[in-house]
Amino acid sequence: MLHDIDYILVSEKEIELIVSRIAADIDRDYKDSDKKLLLLCILKGSVVFMGDLMKKIRRPVEIDFMKVSSYGSGTSTSGRVSIMLDLYRNDLSDVDIIIVEDIIDSGKTLSYLCEYLKLKGANSVRTCTMLDKPSRRQVDFSADYVGREIPDAFVVGYGLDYDEKYRTLPFVGVLKPEIYTH
Ligand code: IMP
Ligand code: MG
Repeated sequence: MLHDIDYILVSEKEIELIVSRIAADIDRDYKDSDKKLLLLCILKGSVVFMGDLMKKIRRPVEIDFMKVSSYGSGTSTSGRVSIMLDLYRNDLSDVDIIIVEDIIDSGKTLSYLCEYLKLKGANSVRTCTMLDKPSRRQVDFSADYVGREIPDAFVVGYGLDYDEKYRTLPFVGVLKPEIYTH
């Protein structure tokens, strides 16, 4: 597994600092809110980031999960988002949602989900992403909390996969191009 990695882009130490900073920002921003705060993890890629982030937030939070598919295969996404696991609750007008995502590429997944959750009646919807590739955007979208901007390279680890592999690596690494170009 390690020999498929070209180089480490975000180390374990840097990830820890990023997660602490975002958790502190969230605690600060929702200090005076009397609504419930829901961390909404987008499966599967965000599960590692979500696990770390929720432990560092001091205020009470609830957690839930959605699974979406952008009908992509390999290293590209089609941008057509379909919901594989939905969020079911009837008190969304009392809930501030923070969508927790692993990475923003075209921006289509998160811009779709934001609209979807607002239409469902959430009190507010914000977005949090570990990684951001702004140079890849196809729709005008920016997240409220961003761990780190990265260049246009295909990355794996810390939850991110290529063909369901590499999710368990504790760092974010750039995959050797020969792994996906054959
Ligand atoms: P978007 O809708 O194009 O922003 O796609 C975001 C999704 O594409 C992420 O949740 C990932 O599942 C996937 N993705 C985008 N870039 C990468 C990458 O470099 N490595 C692994 N998955 C990626
Ligand atoms: Mg993926």
